[in-house]
Amino acid sequence: MELEKTYNENCIETLHRMPDDFIDMTITSPPYDDLRDYNGYHFPVEEIAASLYHKTKKGGVVIWVVGDRTVNGDETLSSFKHAFAFKDADFRVHDTMLYVKKNPIPSDCGKRYRQCFEYMFCFSKGQPKTFNPITEPTKSAGQKIKAFRITEVGRGNVPDEDIGREIKSERKVSNIFAYNVGTSSSKDKVAFSHPAIFPEQLVEDQIRTWTNEGDLVYDCFMGSGTTAKVAHLMNRRWLGSEISEEYVNISKERLAPYLDVMEFFAAK
Ligand SMILES: C[S@@+](CC[C@H](N)C(=O)[O-])C[C@H]1O[C@@H](n2cnc3c(N)ncnc32)[C@H](O)[C@@H]1O
Repeated sequence: MELEKTYNENCIETLHRMPDDFIDMTITSPPYDDLRDYNGYHFPVEEIAASLYHKTKKGGVVIWVVGDRTVNGDETLSSFKHAFAFKDADFRVHDTMLYVKKNPIPSDCGKRYRQCFEYMFCFSKGQPKTFNPITEPTKSAGQKIKAFRITEVGRGNVPDEDIGREIKSERKVSNIFAYNVGTSSSKDKVAFSHPAIFPEQLVEDQIRTWTNEGDLVYDCFMGSGTTAKVAHLMNRRWLGSEISEEYVNISKERLAPYLDVMEFFAAK
């Protein structure tokens, strides 16, 4: 199977051609709830989840970014249906992370607060084999942990084994990641001809966390090519599927300045 290519086809076809235990990580965002018109394309989540399970290496992960549409004041919960489809396909729900939009598109949401997040499910095939956590400095580095600690949520008990331990200078960030969306999320103007692009930083943070250089990253709904661009710049191998020829052409134009290979997408 040729790598560094976006296959202009239904991802089911690409997945069927892959050998088993092939992908280190998938990061993708499906066209859920017909929220946008992606030229009318649909996808079977159960079949994709089952196929991804076979094609993912043991310890590999799938980052599945998805939200819910609100219809007549009622949320679809498609994201939850997707999560159960992945569980049924034998993936573990390793972490339910949130992708928060710092500058969500303004909308009149009636008697509801402004919708500003999507789920960022981390499904894993067994225990993840790679975890390079993003960290942040701690405020109380060097101090000793006491029996009681005042936290944001109140006065908490500390497990016996932690009492007296020195607080480290760094800690893992929380599983809520916030990004700017819209024009500040990528410098590539052509990418915005696609209606729903990933913030590049989101893709970079997830690829850094779950893979190492040389690993293979797949995006089954490649859209404008964000995953391909970021994976390439991070020295990962990559592979994609995108059913719309129009979007493949957008990604081709977007990626041209970054890629060494001229013919990066294959004929069917
Ligand atoms: C949410 S967008 C992905 C955008 C992408 N993350 C980016 O940064 O540009 C979903 C994409 O899936 C494509 N698509 C829909 N059904 C598909 C299928 N069965 N196989 C492959 N691509 C599909 C749509 O054309 C659309 O471009």
